[in-house]
Amino acid sequence: KKVVLAYSGGLDTSVILKWLQIEYGCEVVTFTADIGQGEELEPARTKAQAAGVQEIYIDDLREEFVSDFVFPMFRANTLYEGEYLLGTSIARPLIAKRLIEIAAETGADAIAHGATGKGNDQVRFELTAYALNPEIKIIAPWREWDLLSREKLMAYAEQHGIAVEMKRDGTKSPYSMDANLLHISYEGYDLEDPWVEPGSDMWRWSVAPEQAPDQATTIEIGFEQGDPVAINGQRFSPAALLAELNRIGGANGIGRADLVENRYVGMKSRGCYETPGGTILLKAHRAMESLTLDREAAHLKDELMPRYASLVYNGYWFTPERNMLQVAIDETQKVVNGEVRLRLYKGNVMVVGRKSASNSLFDAAIATFEEDAGAYNQADATGFIRLNALRLRVAGRQRG
Ligand code: ARG
Ligand code: SIN
Repeated sequence: KKVVLAYSGGLDTSVILKWLQIEYGCEVVTFTADIGQGEELEPARTKAQAAGVQEIYIDDLREEFVSDFVFPMFRANTLYEGEYLLGTSIARPLIAKRLIEIAAETGADAIAHGATGKGNDQVRFELTAYALNPEIKIIAPWREWDLLSREKLMAYAEQHGIAVEMKRDGTKSPYSMDANLLHISYEGYDLEDPWVEPGSDMWRWSVAPEQAPDQATTIEIGFEQGDPVAINGQRFSPAALLAELNRIGGANGIGRADLVENRYVGMKSRGCYETPGGTILLKAHRAMESLTLDREAAHLKDELMPRYASLVYNGYWFTPERNMLQVAIDETQKVVNGEVRLRLYKGNVMVVGRKSASNSLFDAAIATFEEDAGAYNQADATGFIRLNALRLRVAGRQRG
């Protein structure tokens, strides 16, 4: 019996590692992914070795994460409940997919994760795992053990010689956090009262808008087929582009969100998020589409978007219905090419220009307030309006 564990090297998953070895008596393979969380990964190797792990996987998934998960999602302008950019949600299917691949490579029959029984993450990991390997066994220690408090977890760690240390960047945070190239999230602790404003020292990726520079930063983002490819004319790989937008956005106080969301398991939860690059990209992508997409295609996309967002939030990435929507969305993106100019200023993202050499549907000759040389016959509007008003006039007459 062998199990592949999604292992961060932190306290929780270190306890899980030991617990699996003791309770299940099975060989544990660890998998640690770099998805841009900004932490050292080598300590995870050292700790896994110390725990006697033979097969240790440490993978850099940053480019795959952004090009195959984040960018496809951004083509749909995805927002959950009007506010959440889905930074954690979109990373889970990738991690679960890799767990399943590693299980196949190492001959493991099970996977394990450190998500609790109260959250969304367990659902996302497990729906993906079952979709990709119907026979896989899944171990979710949080749903089985009785180490349900911090104290019990610490006691177990101490009892089994597991090093209990602060966060690996040397600071201690009381929040439940999750970070990757798209966002960093904070839950729990004082956020459990939705009325309480978090302390200014909670935020890690962005300055407070009040502290941001008094001078605006202007940037240009280039798009090809709906995906961002360049900043100020310089081309970047997907992961490098998102990292650069996070840096610029964070410096201008962009991308903070404080919200109460509906978890799939039924409860409301309060979370705070920093998504600087994503916040810029959403605005920029919509501006690029405003110039290049047909009206009806754009409106239909907007109607489908909340459905797509729920699929991502609830963990249905590897499903027929998400694939179906993705194909439709991707089809619209062939014409989304060009540049958007934005001004970033104290938490705000303002679009100040957009152009598309090959795909602009904007026709100044038609739209002009000046004389239009016959491109548009204003007299046509008389019949257009009268026919559209026909039923209203019939009903109005009948009312008397
Ligand atoms: N509430 C957010 C979501 O469901 C963030 C979850 C954060 N996960 C975590 N393990 N800290 O997507
Ligand atoms: C967890 O409960 O493991 C984190 C929060 C979530 O999954 O929603």
